[in-house]
Amino acid sequence: MITDQELIRLALCAREHAYTPYSHFQVGAALLSVDDHVYQGCNVENAGYTPSNCAERTAVFKAVSEGKTEFTKIAIVGGPEGYKPNNLTPPCGVCRQVLREFVDPKNFQIIVAVSEENYKVFTLEQLLPLSFGPEDLGV
Ligand code: THU
Repeated sequence: MITDQELIRLALCAREHAYTPYSHFQVGAALLSVDDHVYQGCNVENAGYTPSNCAERTAVFKAVSEGKTEFTKIAIVGGPEGYKPNNLTPPCGVCRQVLREFVDPKNFQIIVAVSEENYKVFTLEQLLPLSFGPEDLGV
């Protein structure tokens, strides 16, 4: 069983790999699958700007590409390059929607952290109310 603190620590480690020559804002994420595997992600920017990818989506896409599609929680940390996180970094709207594809919004937990001691936990439903998901397609 992985604790919230451990997941935050893994997100902080992932943040060290952030590739951010344009924004200099570095984000790390650690996504926990139902079978207790952790998928780490960082933001990866691009000279074309638009192709940049957030830390959360990096983690989700890594997991899905390795055959995992069920998750229980994600820890997210972020802040300017060269500094420890000082403020909460909530997931962007696109990342909330990408998570929505794979999780139960009422139960999936989003741990938005400054440190292992300082963090808030939200459900995806709290951060993305009245969301549109696979079942809404009616297929
Ligand atoms: N970013 C993330 O990786 N996750 C978030 O939750 C918010 C923003 C990245 C995108 C971009 O590389 C940089 O932070 C500044 O927006």
